[in-house]
Amino acid sequence: MRTIFAVYGDPIEHSLSPNMHNAAFKELGMDCTYHAYRVKPARLKDTLLRAQAMGFGGVNLTVPLKQEALKIVDADPLAAAIGAINTIDFKDGMKGYNTDGIGAKRCIEEEGVTISGSNVLIVGAGGASRAIAFQFAKDGANITIANRTEEKAVELATEVSSFGNARGCGLDDLKELIAGSDILINCTTLGMHPNIDTSIATAEDMHPNLTVFDIVYNPLETRLLREAKKAGAKTITGVMMLVYQGAEAFRIWTGVEPPVDVMKKAVLEGLKL
Ligand code: ATR
Repeated sequence: MRTIFAVYGDPIEHSLSPNMHNAAFKELGMDCTYHAYRVKPARLKDTLLRAQAMGFGGVNLTVPLKQEALKIVDADPLAAAIGAINTIDFKDGMKGYNTDGIGAKRCIEEEGVTISGSNVLIVGAGGASRAIAFQFAKDGANITIANRTEEKAVELATEVSSFGNARGCGLDDLKELIAGSDILINCTTLGMHPNIDTSIATAEDMHPNLTVFDIVYNPLETRLLREAKKAGAKTITGVMMLVYQGAEAFRIWTGVEPPVDVMKKAVLEGLKL
């Protein structure tokens, strides 16, 4: 019998998760199908219980449901610390995970860059920053979180400190911070369409030993990544985080190695890039 998977959110019509997972199922010849449904926070619990009762293979959650889910599912410790669930597995009750941080980790490691022991500068202190900061601290990186609103960076770093090494600060000394970093991650909205000329840093601020990862994927190559290339740094586009967070959910649900290249192609086609 065909196994059903789904992503819930509101709005949901622009989700690329169905493209990505259906392409993976097809590639591997799995009798599975993945759909997107509009679900409001007040209906999340009912909807999840119904999905579980109907034998769904798994569910992804997006805005505005990721926090609400914490009240409903059995959250793994990292997802509980991050405070957001994006993947639910029904194999053993209703288990909740956050695959954003591990998705970011995989993108970087795929480029041959080691996270453990490296100095990672995360700019921004919103949801994406949280997921990455907790995961990377757990993985043994030295984390600096720099944010326009300094207090938010300091608060987040204090929380992250229970998982590893982290400090928070404002953006005043960004250039010096970049000079002392191995990995720079943009978790702000700077550079995102339509503000494509904005960037947290320019080529003069960066160095050739740096790996620059921008979670922004619209445009695919942001100004930050263009500047990083000019500086001779390694670059990773935000599309890869989208792909790898999905790939990690796929792995949790199916136990099968996800066909990452196929999933990436499906996402890029969906974005029409
Ligand atoms: P997400 O959940 O996707 O991480 P978010 O919670 O909206 O997004 O966070 C956006 C981040 O971009 C915040 O860290 C924000 O800084 P503030 O906490 O000071 O608001 C940062 N950001 C947005 N616009 C910015 C700008 N023009 N300059 C610097 N940082 C900016």
